[in-house]
Amino acid sequence: MGDYLLRQALESEARKITDLIHSVGINPTGLDWRRFIVAVDSSGEVLGCGQIKSHGREIRELASIAVRPEWRGRGIARSVIDKLLESAQKPLYLMCMANMGGMYEKFGFLPVTRADLPKYFQRIYALFRTAGVFMQPHDDLLIMKLE
Ligand SMILES: CC(C)(COP(=O)(O)OP(=O)(O)OC[C@H]1O[C@@H](n2cnc3c(N)ncnc32)[C@H](O)[C@@H]1OP(=O)(O)O)[C@@H](O)C(=O)NCCC(=O)NCCS
Repeated sequence: MGDYLLRQALESEARKITDLIHSVGINPTGLDWRRFIVAVDSSGEVLGCGQIKSHGREIRELASIAVRPEWRGRGIARSVIDKLLESAQKPLYLMCMANMGGMYEKFGFLPVTRADLPKYFQRIYALFRTAGVFMQPHDDLLIMKLE
C-alpha cells in the first residue's frame, strides 16, 4: 500500500481536507469531515481523501476524491475509493468530468443516461448546462452509478 495509512478523518483534519479540495479545484460544497476517509503519511499530513454524501434518503454520492499532486499514481485514490465502497449502500452515484469516467469504470461505475437520472442529478445537470456557456466544449459532466 505504500507509506500511508487509511482511516476515518479527524475533526482536527477538517481544514486540511478543505484546503486539499480547494487546491485540486473540485466541488467545494458539503465537506463535512465526519464522512471522510483520509490517506495520511507518517507525520499526519493528509495526502488524499474521499467521502460519500447523502442527498435525501435515496441518493448517495461518492465525492471529493482528491490526492495531492506529488502523491498521485501510487494507488491512493484507489485505496480511498475501495475503502469507501466497502461499507457503501448501493446504488451509489458520482459526478465527474467526462474525461474521468475511465477511472471510475475500474470500480464498476457505469454512465447513467439523462432519462435515467434521479431528480437530484437532473437538477444538477441542468444547472451545469446553464453554467456551461462559460466552459470549453469538451468539459462535459458525466453522472455514473454503481449498482
Ligand atoms: C484523479 C485523482 C484522484 C487520482 O488519484 P491517484 O492517487 O493518482 O489515483 P490512483 O493512483 O489510485 O489510480 C487509480 C486508478 O485510476 C486510474 N486513473 C488515475 N487518474 C486517472 C485519470 N485522470 N483518468 C483515468 N484514469 C485514471 C489509474 O490508472 C489507476 O488505475 P489502475 O489501478 O488500474 O492502475 C488525482 O489525480 C486527483 O486528485 N486529481 C484532481 C482531483 C480530481 O479530478 N478528482 C476526481 C474528481 S471526479
